[in-house]
Amino acid sequence: MTTTTTAPAHLHWEAKDGLLLEVEDLHVEFRTRDGIAKAINGVSFDLRQGETLAILGESGSGKSVTAQAIMGILDTPPGYVTGGKVKYCGTDLLQVPEKVRQTVRGAEISMIFQDALSSLNPVFPVGWQIAEMFRIHRKMNKSDALAQAVRLMQRVKIPAAKERVSAYPHQFSGGMRQRIMIAMAIALDPAVLIADEPTTALDVTVQAQIMGLLKELQEESNMGLILITHDLGVVADVADNIAVMYCGRMVETANVHEIYGHPCHPYTIGLLDSIPRLDMKGTVLRAIGGLPPNLLAVPPGCAFNPRCKFAKDQCRVGDAPPLIEAAPGRHSACYFAEELLSR
Ligand SMILES: Nc1ncnc2c1ncn2[C@@H]1O[C@H](COP(=O)(O)OP(=O)(O)OP(=O)(O)O)[C@@H](O)[C@H]1O
Ligand SMILES: [Mg+2]
Repeated sequence: MTTTTTAPAHLHWEAKDGLLLEVEDLHVEFRTRDGIAKAINGVSFDLRQGETLAILGESGSGKSVTAQAIMGILDTPPGYVTGGKVKYCGTDLLQVPEKVRQTVRGAEISMIFQDALSSLNPVFPVGWQIAEMFRIHRKMNKSDALAQAVRLMQRVKIPAAKERVSAYPHQFSGGMRQRIMIAMAIALDPAVLIADEPTTALDVTVQAQIMGLLKELQEESNMGLILITHDLGVVADVADNIAVMYCGRMVETANVHEIYGHPCHPYTIGLLDSIPRLDMKGTVLRAIGGLPPNLLAVPPGCAFNPRCKFAKDQCRVGDAPPLIEAAPGRHSACYFAEELLSR
């Protein structure tokens, strides 16, 4: 990766025509003792103001690494961005100095981390932890910062926020702790919020409440929201667009309604078949057979081919199939996408 030392001409980030983020042909690899693991292999997508994009895929498909590359918090070494662009409001963040990136991180693009529930500090009151955001980034004094913490706790609907601002993390339920993490992530009014598996550790009712809250906050501020999940069921009601990842590539992208009705990549078909549905009561859920490949031994051709019931000889050789338009607004990295669409 090459870096230039010149800062962009503007430091006031403004989305042109609502376009916030353009990730173009992103490549990330991990240089490990056992070899080079190509974790991200040409991921591209856009995010607009007010849009919710769900990035979906099994464990190890590269969802968190994509988010880390966007945030500029990749574990280096062993992780390196080896190609592509991460453009925010038109400026490639991979080409700006770390000093500029720091002004974007948290304030412009913010993230709720996958292990959020355990990342609150147990020895400090939650209000103090939220207030830190304002003390550090906005240089506020103690009492103003604490007042902002209460305002945010109210905004994420924590009951009796004023009284509970001095309570400790263990005094809150899992769902309430996740609300506190959301409060910290939106404290500086980011234009983009990336939520990495924000509801995985929570029960179903609380999952729905947290998703509802994220959606509400997004509507209030017109944020661009990226929801990372391995569970298509969780994001069905809130996502506008879905990008399905497999082995570091996007294998299908579409509007949420279209993908549910007519998936056109065998992996997406498998994911949909493995969601419990009320109208299929009594039938056996079909999990996708097999495991995702080891990144150090990815099969030739389409990485999904050993698990795919539609695979033919051409899927087992050469490069991975590219993501191409199978129908207007429908992209799939399967040679049989059009056939699957007309099923
Ligand atoms: N620090 C690291 N060193 C080596 N390999 C890594 C590192 N971090 C991630 N990887 C590899 O990159 C690949 C993508 O990981 P990533 O964390 O993005 O998966 P994910 O889709 O977020 O999965 P999950 O649903 O389990 O969170 C995995 O194969 C993982 O082993
Ligand atoms: Mg992850």
